[in-house]
Amino acid sequence: MPQVHICEVGPRDGLQNAKHLMPTEAKKAWIGALAAAGLREIEVGSFVPAKLIPAMADTADIVSFARTIPGLKVVALAPNLKGFQRAVEAGAHKVTFPVSASRAHSESNVRMLPDRMIEEVRRCAELKLPVEIEGAVSTAFGCTLQGEVAEDEVVRIAVALAGFCDAVALADTVGYANPAQVKRIFSLVKKQIGEKLEGAHFHNTRGLGIANALAAYEVGVRNFDSSMGGLGGCPFAPGASGNVITEDLVFMFESMGVATGISMEKLFAAREILVKGIPDEPIYGHTPLAGLPKGFRAAA
Ligand code: COA
Ligand code: ZN
Repeated sequence: MPQVHICEVGPRDGLQNAKHLMPTEAKKAWIGALAAAGLREIEVGSFVPAKLIPAMADTADIVSFARTIPGLKVVALAPNLKGFQRAVEAGAHKVTFPVSASRAHSESNVRMLPDRMIEEVRRCAELKLPVEIEGAVSTAFGCTLQGEVAEDEVVRIAVALAGFCDAVALADTVGYANPAQVKRIFSLVKKQIGEKLEGAHFHNTRGLGIANALAAYEVGVRNFDSSMGGLGGCPFAPGASGNVITEDLVFMFESMGVATGISMEKLFAAREILVKGIPDEPIYGHTPLAGLPKGFRAAA
């Protein structure tokens, strides 16, 4: 039984910010390989206007494909009611909404202020459709547009979302977080919303992604987003770069004896398929470059 749950967000967070487009068939091959490596949850795309993010234009097709993989939870991001309806129609099992705690990022990203966005998510939840809804508090640790983001505001938004979402996540959209801050804010929010606080979404922009993931683990977080090859970033948050790297995150947990349910070898195989699908894109990762330590044993 996995002791931590990792959601691969590369096909969404990664490809939305890539300089090159990955063809639909290559996306499918990559998602298939990720699932074969043991990933049980994959955020496969977003339902946003294709004009805005051309890399996400084929998400409905990708969702239908991903649904054919047994045991896989298929997640899509939606920024509004229209995106939610498209996601449900395509058959997503779970829809994630980005709700920025920074007013500046919220306006830049979804053209709505945070409170208006909270109401948009509430409208979707009130439809009571058979789909899981996650409210992700983005820029929860700071924002490149606004600078500081008040912790009270993060807590306030998380509490509001917990009122009607199935789960709430905290996201460091621009890689500003540090481990002490992660422990403090996750603990503050947990005090208010308890088990509704699930996910941690970190970016590695300043090299602290994995340290932040460990800090979150130490205060009880068991659900993590990460991206293969460290792809990722929000096109509407200047300076945002890749997510915490799946290969390194899995290696960290497995070498600590914390089971992820994911095979390192099969993850490396999936990485080759990623590189084949988008050969000109820079791909990161320490563990895949260095290789596994001699005598490495995965967690039982
Ligand atoms: N999917 C497809 N089309 C959509 C859509 C969606 N989710 N939401 C709106 N549209 C269409 C509308 O139908 C309208 O089309 P028309 O011009 O043919 O009539 C057009 O887009 C504009 O709609 P509007 O509601 O005014 O949207 P907007 O221009 O204010 O943009 C968002 C708002 C939320 C759609 C946009 O800011 C967005 O997609 N943001 C997400 C960005 C993102 O992906 N960030 C990274 C992930 S966090
Ligand atoms: Zn992100």
